[in-house]
Amino acid sequence: MSALNLVLESIYWILPAYIANAVPVILGGGVPLDFGKNFLDGKRIFGDGKTIKGFGVGVIIGTLVGVLQGRAELGFLISVGALCGDLAGSFLKRRMNMESGEGLPVVDQLGFVVFAILFGSLIEIPTLDKIAVILTISFILHYGANYIAHKLKLKKVPW
Ligand code: CTP
Ligand code: MG
Repeated sequence: MSALNLVLESIYWILPAYIANAVPVILGGGVPLDFGKNFLDGKRIFGDGKTIKGFGVGVIIGTLVGVLQGRAELGFLISVGALCGDLAGSFLKRRMNMESGEGLPVVDQLGFVVFAILFGSLIEIPTLDKIAVILTISFILHYGANYIAHKLKLKKVPW
């Protein structure tokens, strides 16, 4: 497989995760998944940034991408994985005393991707080179997107 082919196939494989993770930013909001409840440590379980609607629209639209790709079941698993990874990251951040929206490098960029790969692997395990490319591209894309959002004055900081 040529390098370009590998990169394109990797993006294609993980695409439902990117969509599932991005959609809640635009269509999410409302009642939080943790219903405002605290964990045993007295801090929020996930926080206000993780909502029922965000999770729902993320799964639905991520799965639709999988349907368009002709692999609905894989798209569904990758989407659910991405959103569960996003939740796990928020759970970890709340335990670390971080406010909703505070950045945690690596976890923010790769947490949802790692979970998406794990969930998707229930029916299709990507090759190791594909996994390596997915992780690398996800890191670059995240910083690229934030840099552009900063330049467009949508974000205060470029990370
Ligand atoms: N969002 C949502 N439901 C989700 C995930 C995200 O409604 N399950 C929306 C929220 O409005 C959230 C925004 O998308 O504020 C950005 O998502 P994200 O960066 O993942 O959350 P943060 O607000 O940064 O919170 P956290 O610190 O917990 O990651
Ligand atoms: Mg965030």
